[in-house]
Amino acid sequence: METVVSGIRSTGNLHLGNYFGAVQNFLKMQHENHCFFFIADYHSLTTHPKPDDLHSNIRQVLAEYLACGIDPEVATVFIQSDVPEVTELYLLLNMNAYVGELERTASFKEKIRKQPDNINAGLLTYPVLMAADIIIHRANKVPVGKDQEQHLEMTRRFARRFNTMYGVNYFPEPDAYNFGRQLVKIPGLDGTGKMGKSEGNGIFLADTPEAIRKKVMRAVTDTGPTEPKQKMSEPVKNLFTIMDVVSDHSTVKHFKEQYADCSIRYGDLKKQLAEDIIRFTTPIRERINEIVADRKYLAGVVAKGAEKARASASQTIRDVREIIGYRPFA
Ligand code: TRP
Repeated sequence: METVVSGIRSTGNLHLGNYFGAVQNFLKMQHENHCFFFIADYHSLTTHPKPDDLHSNIRQVLAEYLACGIDPEVATVFIQSDVPEVTELYLLLNMNAYVGELERTASFKEKIRKQPDNINAGLLTYPVLMAADIIIHRANKVPVGKDQEQHLEMTRRFARRFNTMYGVNYFPEPDAYNFGRQLVKIPGLDGTGKMGKSEGNGIFLADTPEAIRKKVMRAVTDTGPTEPKQKMSEPVKNLFTIMDVVSDHSTVKHFKEQYADCSIRYGDLKKQLAEDIIRFTTPIRERINEIVADRKYLAGVVAKGAEKARASASQTIRDVREIIGYRPFA
């Protein structure tokens, strides 16, 4: 059994792409591994959120993952800031992280461009905190997408450097956990690329039916097929890809036939797609709203998660202090 750690951004509201990607990974992993899933709310401070926003984002995102079936009885589900041990490891790792390598990190360079008025030290050391999140549980697997590969590579380097520096074999070097090709990639509604939050092309699990109808009706298409069995354009293919995961087989077949004989009307396809997405997300949305409102349940989940995460983290801190040379006088 492997130990898996994954951090979730506190602003990472789930869209359909996440649902068929990361979330399905998590659901599978939680039964096969020793999993730690947490909301990375220390990392969130690098963008200076308002306190009320920070709290409501954390609550919402946590509820969304729970509504999808992340089981706090099976996995350890917690809030990063409930486990202060991670900040101690972060401090210790910072001493062996070099400013040069941190400045060269792609995500840091991007942040400099995106928020030139707020280039705080937390942005620079973001990868160190992420490494601490992971190795504090001595994880060997981290489910990450492409955008986090460099951070994971740095985690491996920091773990290796610690081991070398102190002549120990204490921290494993974690590998990426990637189901990759087995997962359906859900495209966005803007005609190109995959669904993403920053792309603004997504349908969120918590979106209301009205919002979903509006978004789908505005989705990019083309001028329509003019000859039988014409090759589909990217935007139209994308709508069919979404339809494949939310609609009945017969519905997909119906519209594919209409496309093939050029009788298709994209307005009808979109109307049907919107209703099928709504049918798919409605039970999840209702569950999210139920969980968000259940303060007692959520309080119980995070308290239990913090307890389990701290038990694991504090053991590591004890070991690391001993290795570094912080030893009791007695
Ligand atoms: N950096 C990750 C992201 O932006 C979030 C994260 C923080 C994380 N700590 C982590 C992911 C530890 C995996 C493991 O999505």
